[in-house]
Amino acid sequence: KIYRASTTAPVNIAVIKYWGKRDPTLNLPTNSSLSVTLSQADLRTHTTAACSASFPGPDSLVINGAPQDISGPRTQACLRLLREQRAALESSSSPAPLPSLSSFPLRIASVNNFPTAAGLASSAAGFAALVRAVADLYQLPASPAELSRIARQGSGSACRSLFGGYVAWERGGEGAAGGAEAGAGAGTGAGAEGAQARADDGSDSLATQVAPAGHWPDMRALILVVSADKKGVSSTAGMQATVATSELFATRAATLVPRRMAQMRAAILARDFDAFARLTMRDSNNFHATCLDTEPPIFYLNDVSRAAIRVVEDINKAVGRIVAAYTFDAGPNAVVYYLAENESLVAGTFKADMGSAAGWDTERGRAVQINGG
Ligand code: DP6
Repeated sequence: KIYRASTTAPVNIAVIKYWGKRDPTLNLPTNSSLSVTLSQADLRTHTTAACSASFPGPDSLVINGAPQDISGPRTQACLRLLREQRAALESSSSPAPLPSLSSFPLRIASVNNFPTAAGLASSAAGFAALVRAVADLYQLPASPAELSRIARQGSGSACRSLFGGYVAWERGGEGAAGGAEAGAGAGTGAGAEGAQARADDGSDSLATQVAPAGHWPDMRALILVVSADKKGVSSTAGMQATVATSELFATRAATLVPRRMAQMRAAILARDFDAFARLTMRDSNNFHATCLDTEPPIFYLNDVSRAAIRVVEDINKAVGRIVAAYTFDAGPNAVVYYLAENESLVAGTFKADMGSAAGWDTERGRAVQINGG
């Protein structure tokens, strides 16, 4: 007998960025972060998990048809935690015992509905879908928040893809270098040694929904695929280098982000686009400033990214108020947030301006409109 479960998970794009780990093993972040979930009609990962006593081991994972190496600690941590929960269910299930799925080899297959060549980060949707597919297969009674705790260990940003709408990843106070978010030493890892004594499993570092997508149904996002190339410095390696060497980063993590998290939450709850947009742009720029402040410096933005920033600035100046906001992750692709009422202005200007911008790759560069709801 083969047991099976399928699920999907959306892509999310942070407006307050996660950058920095206070505990790389448990993948605990230095600061909290907040993201907007993109429409699954446009960008999502679909994952099927299957297990059977008749499958030859070991576990396997195929993404878009390509077999993956899953021996790394990230995937192993997720699978181990899910198996442990299943094993606990099985051992408490007498007198009607459950099949011992936890001991069967797993076969997991994922497919993205967006081209891998689009150069969009897919690890967030990927790990979120993987964790939920296996949790469904194992019939775990886990809530999305509990699953987010597991997905976090696959890839930090994945914990925010277990919800729709507006999602916060709370850094939590447990684990190495825990303590209050705004507390002294938060962010630099400097307190890591002292905190080892009370280090635990970091189980309070998980995602929660700030507001469902329907709370702000007019939110839209435009994705500008500047480059489909694999990024030069991976986010995992980049953020470790930033934590280790950037002096700007300590201020960002200890002071700026805690304040902005509160302001962003309030802006979203009040549907205040002006505040949402300003915070989004400033936080993206601050994150990239800490990358530049890293030794050696990390450059994720290129000339086309900077041209996109100028287009947003020009649109906002022409209208006389802020109607568009850009943000960039660990790569040159831009995501531009705007409200539906400004659709033709924002999308139209990007098409007109970016299509002819110097350095714009007209072959691969394209704007994909997605629904932020
Ligand atoms: C810039 O979640 O990819 O996109 O936890 O090491 O897998 P790991 O990092 P990852 O980092 C994402 C960084 C970011 C900002 C964000 O999504 O918050």
